[in-house]
Amino acid sequence: MSSLKGRDFLSLADYSAEELLFIINTARLIKERFYSGERIIPVLTGRILAMIFEKPSTRTRVSFEVAMKQLGGHAIYLSWRELQLARGETISDTARTLARYVDGIVARVYEHEKLEELAKYSDKPVINGLSNLLHPVQALSDIFTIMEKKGDPRKLKIVFVGDGGSNVAHSLLLGLIILGGGITIACPKGYEPVERIMDLYMEISKETGGYAEIINDPVEAVKGADVVYTDVWISMGMEAEAEKRLRDFAGFRVDSKLMRYAKPNAIFMHCLPAHRGVEVTDEVIDGVWSVVWDQAENRLHLQKALLSLIIP
Ligand code: CP
Ligand code: NVA
Repeated sequence: MSSLKGRDFLSLADYSAEELLFIINTARLIKERFYSGERIIPVLTGRILAMIFEKPSTRTRVSFEVAMKQLGGHAIYLSWRELQLARGETISDTARTLARYVDGIVARVYEHEKLEELAKYSDKPVINGLSNLLHPVQALSDIFTIMEKKGDPRKLKIVFVGDGGSNVAHSLLLGLIILGGGITIACPKGYEPVERIMDLYMEISKETGGYAEIINDPVEAVKGADVVYTDVWISMGMEAEAEKRLRDFAGFRVDSKLMRYAKPNAIFMHCLPAHRGVEVTDEVIDGVWSVVWDQAENRLHLQKALLSLIIP
């Protein structure tokens, strides 16, 4: 495998199974060292990460910033609204300027094409910190969590209940099929993964044997599951559709009744932030199944691995 230095990280589909597993294994080692007291691993001394956010964030923003500090570098938070981008400066001009100052860029945007434009004009790596289409750092970190808690994801029934067209569902699907595993998505009709993701699915699954099953019945989907995952029904930027979505997703809430169809030792995952009482009940997210805090923590370790491998 060649070095990952300088590579963008916009989609898991740009990486091979070997490369994704290498990032996860690096995260595991970094986490072990963290817990044995080695909090600072200064492999990025003097490196600077710019973090452009067009949408709110708690986990992604803080975990990337802490990750850079713990790797000996520094991160600069840049709200889209306070950059000249908000006054019409182009993404290409912004990318070319920032790339002269910093060693890498994380960006959270609405349209995925904005990330592609940033990456095209920045000669420093660009990391997707979430777009409407994909959330690859989340999904790769979640696969790391699944491996820690349950072992080889190819041997597990992993079920996503909710919006099959969400960035998180898309990235989980891509990550799992690249590894040769599978995912069952239970979503209402009309909320399946978008065509661009299904096209990638057809292409990748031919090579890896990975599979995705998409059904409209959450109970059928969850039967025998090892992992039950959900995300919000109303993603950032979809607020105008809130009323319709709340109606369409009725019956897809993950509650303890639904969890009882899963294996007795199944885990519950959520990328967070959760809308408690909407897509998941308190008794599930705070219950015995839930691994959501370990899942959130792993974002830090996974991103340290990713930054240490791709920042030049
Ligand atoms: N899961 C996640 O990306 O959370 P934030 O929106 O808080 O960054
Ligand atoms: N699908 C959610 C994920 C938040 C981390 C959203 O885009 O709002």
